[in-house]
Amino acid sequence: MKVPALPVIDRVLFTEEEVQRRIREVAAEISSRYRDGNLKMIGVLKGSVFFLTALARELTIPVKIDFLSISPFSDHTRAPGVVRIAKDLDESIEGEDVLLVEDIVDTGFTARYLLQTLAGRGPNSIALCTMLDRPARRIVPLKIDFRCFEIPDRFVIGCGLDYKQLYRNLNFIAVLKPD
Ligand code: IMP
Ligand code: MG
Repeated sequence: MKVPALPVIDRVLFTEEEVQRRIREVAAEISSRYRDGNLKMIGVLKGSVFFLTALARELTIPVKIDFLSISPFSDHTRAPGVVRIAKDLDESIEGEDVLLVEDIVDTGFTARYLLQTLAGRGPNSIALCTMLDRPARRIVPLKIDFRCFEIPDRFVIGCGLDYKQLYRNLNFIAVLKPD
């Protein structure tokens, strides 16, 4: 594994190989769950793009993909914000088996808002898949249907996760060094 010597990295939490292995396992679970379904993965821009595409490439079933984006949180680490849809889906989800794909479920506010909003649009089913789950900071109780890793209460970067819009392209997940 190549780990660039970035001063912002405290330690590597999951290597590229570990992430890839878990993505393959979760993709197998999803492929089996939706074998007879009408799967549409919905990614939340921009954080979940890397995870969603990695996951989709490992699926063995047909899948449609769409994206939405939510109103940006302030650029401060973990600053809370009001969630609303800034860019909506391109197509209807009526009758489809929607899988909301998130980079991380933290407080749970974003996922709950999106699940409720999408559920109101007549999908056949709706489920939540997240790369990372940080239960220590959960405020809103949520059912997570598919999850790669549970993480400790530290801010992380890589595999789509940013700090001030940087480091999304790291192929591993690392803990950000406190300043
Ligand atoms: P929520 O608190 O569950 O609503 O998550 C809000 C959003 O905050 C996530 O979708 C991420 O975009 C962002 N976020 C939360 N924790 C982290 C982190 O450790 N690193 C980078 N982004 C994070
Ligand atoms: Mg996000």
